[in-house]
Amino acid sequence: MNELWSDCIRSLEPYTPGEQPSIAGLIKLNTNENPYPPSPAVLSALQSMINADLRLYPDPEGCALKQAIAEMYGLRQANIFLGNGSDEVLAHAFHALLKHERPILFPDVTYGFYPVYCALYGIEFETIPLDDEFQVHIMDYIRPNGGIVLANPNAPTGIALSRSQLRILLEKCPTSVVVIDEAYVDFGAESAVSLVNDFPNLLVIQTVSKSRALAGLRAGFAIGNSDLIDALNIVKDCFNSYPLDRLALAGAEAAICDLSYFNATRQQVVNSREWLTMQLMDIGFSVLPSKANFLFVMHKLQPAQEIQHQLRQRNILVRHFPKPRVSNFLRISVGTAEQCEMLVHALREIIVSDTSEVTC
Ligand SMILES: Cc1ncc(COP(=O)(O)O)c(C=O)c1O
Repeated sequence: MNELWSDCIRSLEPYTPGEQPSIAGLIKLNTNENPYPPSPAVLSALQSMINADLRLYPDPEGCALKQAIAEMYGLRQANIFLGNGSDEVLAHAFHALLKHERPILFPDVTYGFYPVYCALYGIEFETIPLDDEFQVHIMDYIRPNGGIVLANPNAPTGIALSRSQLRILLEKCPTSVVVIDEAYVDFGAESAVSLVNDFPNLLVIQTVSKSRALAGLRAGFAIGNSDLIDALNIVKDCFNSYPLDRLALAGAEAAICDLSYFNATRQQVVNSREWLTMQLMDIGFSVLPSKANFLFVMHKLQPAQEIQHQLRQRNILVRHFPKPRVSNFLRISVGTAEQCEMLVHALREIIVSDTSEVTC
C-alpha cells in the first residue's frame, strides 16, 4: 500500500464499471447504453459549439439547460441541479443530504454505487432485502432512518414501483430525504417528478445517458425543492464550479428539446425489450418484469457465467454480477432489433449445445 496515500482512502473499494473494450464488431449489451445514436439535433448543436469560444469557461449555472429541463416538467430553474452524469449528482446528494445520525436505507440488490458513496462520505447504511421475486416493499422502509435511496426502475432488476407507492412512502416519511434514482424511468416506469411540488423532501435524479443516448457526454440532473437544490449547489461549488463543459451543456439541451426523436427511439427500445423477453422465455430463461432498457435473466439449466463466457466468444458482451442472490443472473441491455436477433440466435446455439453436452 502506498504510504503517500491519504489514510481515508486505504479502505475504499471503488465501483467497477462495465468494461468498454474497443473491439470491432462487438455487440455491446453490458452497460445499458442506448443502441441508437443521439438525436441529429444534438450532433449539430455540438458541431456549432466547436469554435473559438472553447477558450472561455462554460456557464457555471448551466442556465439554458436548466431552463429546458424546468420547462419540460413545468418547474423553475431553482428546482434543477446539474452534474457531470447522474453518478456525480448522486454523489453530491449523498454528501449534501444523506449524512445523519441514523443509517440510510436502500435495497440489498440495487445500484452498486450506493454503498461506495456511503464509504466515501462516511455514511452509515442498512440494506433492506428485496422479496423472493426481487420486488421492493415500501412498507419495509417506513421506520426510523437517515434517508432513503431507491432506483426506480431498480437496477439491475428492472422492476419499477408505481408513483402511488412512492407517494405513500413520502407521506409516511416526511422528515427523511427520499432520493429516487430515475436513470431508466423513460423506458416505461412512472416518474416521481410530478410529486416534487408536494414533497419538499423528494429529490429525483435523471440522466441523458440512457433514454437520450448520451452516455458519452456526461450530463445528469436532479429535480427537487429549491432547499434541497441549494445544498447540492454548495457541495458542487466546493468541488468543481464547471462540472459540465460547453459541449455537454449544448448537447444535453438539444437532446431535452428534441422530444419526437426521444419518443421514437425509446419506443423502439421498449418494443425490442418486449420481443426479447418472449424469446428468452422461450429458450428457458426466467426474465424479471423490466421497465428499463435491460433485462435481468436466469437460465433454468445453464450457469450464468458459462453463458456469459460463451456469448463473449461470439463477440457479445453482457453483464454478470458475482454478488449474493444474483450470481446466477445476467443483465442484458436491450440492443437494436438486429442486435437482439443476433443475441437470441447465439443463445439458441449455446443453450442447445450445452444441453446436448449435459445429455451425452
Ligand atoms: C441506477 C443507475 N443510476 C445512475 C447511473 C449513472 O448514470 P450516468 O452517470 O451515466 O448518468 C447508472 C448507470 O448505469 C445506473 O445504472
